[in-house]
Amino acid sequence: MDGAPGRVGILLGQPGGSFPASFTYDPEYLARPGAVPLSASLPLRSAPYDDAGVRAFFDNLLPEGERRRTEALARRIDPADLVGLLGALGADCPGAVSVLPEGAAPAKMPGRLGADYEALDEDRLAALVGEVAAGRPLGGRARFSVAGVQRKLALARDPATGRFLLPRDGAPTTHILKVEAQDGEHRGIVANEALCLDVFRRLGLPVVHAERMVIGVIQVLVVARYDRAVHDDLVARLHQEDAAQALGVPRELKYEDDAEQAGVGPERRGFAALLGRFAGLTRGPGDARLNLVHAAHANWLLGNADAHLKNFALLHDEARADSPAADQAIGFGFDLAPFYDVVCTGAYPGVDQTLAMRIGRASQWDAVERADWLLLAAQMFPGRRVGAGVLARQLDWLRDSAVAVLPEIDAAVADGVVTAIEAKPVRDVAGARLRHLNRTLGWSIPADTDALVHRGGGWAMS
Ligand SMILES: Nc1ncnc2c1ncn2[C@@H]1O[C@H](COP(=O)(O)OP(=O)(O)O)[C@@H](O)[C@H]1O
Ligand SMILES: [Mg+2]
Repeated sequence: MDGAPGRVGILLGQPGGSFPASFTYDPEYLARPGAVPLSASLPLRSAPYDDAGVRAFFDNLLPEGERRRTEALARRIDPADLVGLLGALGADCPGAVSVLPEGAAPAKMPGRLGADYEALDEDRLAALVGEVAAGRPLGGRARFSVAGVQRKLALARDPATGRFLLPRDGAPTTHILKVEAQDGEHRGIVANEALCLDVFRRLGLPVVHAERMVIGVIQVLVVARYDRAVHDDLVARLHQEDAAQALGVPRELKYEDDAEQAGVGPERRGFAALLGRFAGLTRGPGDARLNLVHAAHANWLLGNADAHLKNFALLHDEARADSPAADQAIGFGFDLAPFYDVVCTGAYPGVDQTLAMRIGRASQWDAVERADWLLLAAQMFPGRRVGAGVLARQLDWLRDSAVAVLPEIDAAVADGVVTAIEAKPVRDVAGARLRHLNRTLGWSIPADTDALVHRGGGWAMS
């Protein structure tokens, strides 16, 4: 872990198989003042952890789906072999951890921009992005691991020149490049995500910094990593974990319906878990819950059905952990990380639109009614009974965001974040959401999705 002089512990697996894996903290690490646990689900202790807890944390560091299969097969590793895969890809992981084979030189910590990176010229960058866009594995050149299913690449970027850099010897990356697939699936997703993140920001929510670029001929969303800190020439990793890791939920149960079917209780799935135990791990649970509920409203309004447990994270704020107020800190010194991976999935009719986390009792966006919004509101007060007036106030927050969502989409278009044509699918989805609210809550929010035409500069002209 960046900042720790020795290793944190030892992860064991059987060659070629994922069972059993165990993780044991190193006694020297445990004895270190201020040692932090890898995860809220793996508290510091000297006894080994067995497969269940270990898999949830470590498996959640790895890519998923097709990306996992291609990277594994290119290295002749069984995609189920999590220890083997981490050994190959784990030099630069989410957060402050690096996972390296025993005997390997430690990953660079921190990285020095002037010494531990190789500048990529335009052609090499375009070639690399082209490989990723085509769904081909990166082979031996890349030793980073980023979760998720979208095609992506992790690189560093020189803050002075904006040039992209390839890390050497496991030096930390600073940016994630989400690359639009070339095979036509999820067309326009880069513009879609750039717009949704921007609307989140305009609605007052904390979001990652993202920039849209065309590299070669390929659309790329370049996202600054919130789990990296760059000071002058030095790049450091910051400790973080996603909600699946913090709650000890394996990757394949990140969706609420799947978790419920597997017998996972409400304390570890859906909004009950996110607003309850997960937010409770932060130093400011009230603020975290407020942001999470506002994000739930915004995700529903923008048609993002895919806000599952791996799309929320806790970030260790070192500056604040060292402050005098940290004595009264709650949890391990974590705060809610900025929001990321906000996409209007509703713009892709082929994609399953089941809500990753139910709103009240509703699993589908168009089944959400007043009582469901109030159930979500009640989940902000875990273990407490609150008056109807307090819960009803959240309907006012929902209404504020609902009134703002189309004007903010138009403002993003006016500012050149996306073109009007690119915004249209998202705008249409948001319009349908507003009409649903008007119908079910008796509101009369303007939901005319062709409004932009009347204001000039509309669809036909761009
Ligand atoms: N800005 C960021 N800083 C640090 N980690 C990030 C950032 N954005 C995404 N991640 C990490 O990468 C993973 C995959 O990114 P995400 O945007 O969720 O892609 P996908 O669409 O494939 O799910 C996330 O689960 C998170 O761990
Ligand atoms: Mg994601």
